[in-house]
Amino acid sequence: MANQQTDRPPLRLGILLSGRGSNMIAIAKAIREGRLKGVEIAIVISNVANVCGLAVTRELDLPSAIFVSKGRSRAEHDADVIACLQEHKVDLVCLAGYMRLLSPAFVTAFPQRILNIHPALLPAFPGLDAQQQAWDYGVKVAGCTVHFVDEHLDHGPIVVQRTVPVLDTDDAHALADRILAEEHIAYSEAIARVASGEYEFQGRRYVKRG
Ligand code: GAR
Repeated sequence: MANQQTDRPPLRLGILLSGRGSNMIAIAKAIREGRLKGVEIAIVISNVANVCGLAVTRELDLPSAIFVSKGRSRAEHDADVIACLQEHKVDLVCLAGYMRLLSPAFVTAFPQRILNIHPALLPAFPGLDAQQQAWDYGVKVAGCTVHFVDEHLDHGPIVVQRTVPVLDTDDAHALADRILAEEHIAYSEAIARVASGEYEFQGRRYVKRG
């Protein structure tokens, strides 16, 4: 379906995951329900076999592929994933719970064309177990970040952030659930910004053209 607002062809997404896939599902639902326009899912790729996220791609009738990363070098594995994304003519790569660092060759193959979602308000709490890190630290506000991927971990320009309060009655799991609900909104918002063509980079800042 063409992008009705711009008559441009739809932006083709390649979604990469390693597990549950709830962010992928939220993106797919937003597209199907007409809340996220001008984009389509070209391929969903998992680096782990038999994960829940992959089972759901079949239920949703989305094209999917598995490239198991365990036991392979990063360069070798990434070469297969890059080839698959290119074969499916992917314009924008969306890391959605993809628990694997990308090789420099991957980042170079899709310059400013890879998004990641991180369950913390970057630059606070990069890396693994971000929600637990935030909870342990005792922050009063937490949240999630969708950002472009560059050569450093959880570092590239920020597209969208959403916040949640941290309640005295929370534990790390309750906090993670509250953040996840915001992730499901944030990722579609971020993709919509990229697809709109209305945003530009000003240094690290990704802002609406004036
Ligand atoms: C999400 O909370 C995502 O932010 C996080 O993994 C979860 C995947 O959930 N990603 C990272 O921590 C990456 N550093 P999902 O598979 O249900 O989308």
